[in-house]
Formats: sequence, C-alpha cells, structure tokens
Amino acid sequence: MSDKKRIVLAYSGGLDTSVAIPYLKDRTGKDVVAVSLDVGQGGERLETIKQRALACGAVESYVVDARNEFADEYCMLALQANAMYEGVYPLVSAISRPLITKHLVHAAHQFGADTIAHGCTGKGNDQVRFEVSIMSIDPTLKAISPIRDLGLMRDVEIAYAKEHKLPIEQTEKSPYSIDQNVWGRAIETGYLEDPWNAPTKDVYSYTDDPAFPPVEDEVTITFNKGIPVQIDGKDVTPLQAIEEMNRRAGAQGIGRIDLIEDRLVGIKSRELYEAPGAIALITAHEELENCCLEREQHRIKRDIDKRWGELVYDAQWYSPAVKSLTAFIKDTQEYVSGQIRMSLHGGRAVVTGRRSDSSLYDYSLATYETGDSFDQKASNGFIEIYGLPSKVAAARDVKFGNAVEVPQGDVK
Ligand code: ARG
Repeated sequence: MSDKKRIVLAYSGGLDTSVAIPYLKDRTGKDVVAVSLDVGQGGERLETIKQRALACGAVESYVVDARNEFADEYCMLALQANAMYEGVYPLVSAISRPLITKHLVHAAHQFGADTIAHGCTGKGNDQVRFEVSIMSIDPTLKAISPIRDLGLMRDVEIAYAKEHKLPIEQTEKSPYSIDQNVWGRAIETGYLEDPWNAPTKDVYSYTDDPAFPPVEDEVTITFNKGIPVQIDGKDVTPLQAIEEMNRRAGAQGIGRIDLIEDRLVGIKSRELYEAPGAIALITAHEELENCCLEREQHRIKRDIDKRWGELVYDAQWYSPAVKSLTAFIKDTQEYVSGQIRMSLHGGRAVVTGRRSDSSLYDYSLATYETGDSFDQKASNGFIEIYGLPSKVAAARDVKFGNAVEVPQGDVK
C-alpha cells in the first residue's frame, strides 16, 4: 500500500456523492474508495451503484448487503427499546448511521484510508452521527464532508458533472431530501419547510392514504424475548417481520408522522416520516411488555427507553451510556414472549388480544367474578398505611388554615 492514504466515501449512487468522487480526488489528491450499503432502502441494485462509482472514478467500490444485520442488530434493539424520539419518531435515520459507519471503518482499514467522507450538510444530525460513530470506533480516522467542508454546492455539482462528463442523469432530482431504509422513510426540505403546508400525496411511498383503506387486516405477531418470530403462525426473520408489516400496515396508511423536531444542532425542523412496520411492531411490543414486565421494572424501563432514544438520536450509539442502557433493555426482554393480535385499519394499529405463558396478568387476581383470589379486606390496612403521610400532613394544614377548599353552603 502506498503511503498516500485514501479516502473512503459513503456512496449512495445519487448526484451529490457521485460528483463527490472526482471532486474529493481533485481537492485532496487522494484516491477515493466508494462504499455502499443496502439497508433495505429499495431502489437501484448494488451492482448498478458499484459500476457507477467506478465510472465516476472510484479506485475501488465496495458494496454490502447489510439488510439482515440492520434488522437483527439495529431495528430489533430499537423495537425492544420502543424507541420513539419526541414520542413519535422511530429513529429511522439515527439507527442506520452507526451501522453504515461500521462498514466505512472496515473499508478504511481494508483499503488503506485515513479519512472517511460523507455527503451530509453542516446543518443536520447525520453528519454528527457519522463522525461521532467514526471517532468512537477508530479515533485515528479523520472525517470530511465535501458539501460542508469543500464548498460542493448544487450549482458547482451540476457544472462539475457536465464538465467531467460524469455518467449521472441530469434530470431534476426530488425536491425533497429523503433518507430511507427498511425501518422507515424520512422526507424533508422543499415545500415542507413551511410548517403550515400540508404534505402532498407525492411525498409518501411506504404508505397508502389512510382515508381510503382496504378492508380491516387482522394480524397475530408472536414474540420471543422481545423479537418477532412469527406472523400469523408463519416463521419470520426480523427482516421478514419488518418487511411484512411494512406491506400490511403500509396498505392501511399506518405510521405517517408529521412534526416539528428538535435537532441535535439546535435547529427546529419540519419532518415527515412514514414507518408502517416500525409503528405496528412497536405498538404490539409495548402491549406485550404491559403483560410481561413487573410494575417497577416497567416504570424504570419507560424512562430508560426514552433516554436511549434521545441518546441514539443524539449520535451516541457507540457511547458508554447507550451501552449500559442497552444492557438494561436487553435484560428486561427475558419474559417478553407471547402473542399480540392487532387490527390494522384506516391508519391505526389497534391491539385486540394478547396472550403469553410468561404474562403477569393473573385472572384470579383481576376478576370480579367468582374465583377471585385477591383478599379485598387486605386493602383496608394497605390504604391506612399508604395514606398515613397524607393524613398527618392534612391535619397540619387544617391547623394552619391551609386545608383543601371544599364548597360551602347547603347541599341542594
Ligand atoms: N431528522 C431525521 C433524523 O435526524 C431524519 C434525517 C434524514 N436524513 C436525510 N438526509 N434526509 O433522524
């Protein structure tokens, strides 16, 4: 290997990163290795992308089918964490960056690169996720963004592509910035930057209009330790489970999300997402946890889930904090096994049944019918002691004239 180190570029096959190949070479003097991953985004075949990278001047083009790895190790963890940033966004882009970075670093080691390049702007979360992931895996590597650091703007790109006769189509590209994978799809910019503008039909591709749904679809999902293992009795891998739920929940228009989101870089941005499979699976998984987690463990887990989601959103996937929270989350999944029946219809995934051998729901404790094993008389003593601090405090409040106000006068 020559001592002139190379650059590894996260290559999508689109205009930005295609132009970036010769542009990086011109501006830095280093050879560029293109790396592309399939994380279930659909679209072009990896082989087509590989050939385009080489045609644009990459010295090597390395492609990885990472769909199963992404589903097994990234989406499933997000599912077990019920990960929803700001309560609604299932971290679609946030969980793919750490995986992509792992493969970029692998390629950097393999092909003798000292720098990793990505096509992010300087305004988003993804630049932070790529670069913090890079430094967390191999602190000796450098990072560069041709758009952010080398002035590769839209007009420069078009002129450069023409001048160098790059084999990329000059057709109008989408007016939106889109990132998609098997866990969902993010759509931003353009007309959507006015938060009052309603999304137009053309922004969606994973979901059909929930206002005109097909007939209700009933699905039964079987989980083993927090992982979906069967759909309607048929064995599935995590990837197959997500794909099947994308298709079925997508047909019902489930998982469309529209919000103003707080980015890590301090900007509030208008974001649209569609994540039919993720939303349906998280809805089912949460309900199974309602059955199987002990009350205090469950309360703590809700807090941990929220923090896990925020930290992963904030580019901390490989941090010690996330590692520790992940250990807690995984430990809680020991008994999260059983079945959830859901109705998918008109934009909503609604749980209609749950059963589990490891459920803590106890019919004999819960029932109001005969067969009740709960000692109702024991509640007298429980309430007496549980309410004691409030009772003592109330007596003091009465003494100082601060009692809770009760309406005066005659009862009518
Ligand atoms: N705002 C979302 C996030 O930070 C989506 C990012 C989508 N990325 C993109 N290049 N369009 O996770």
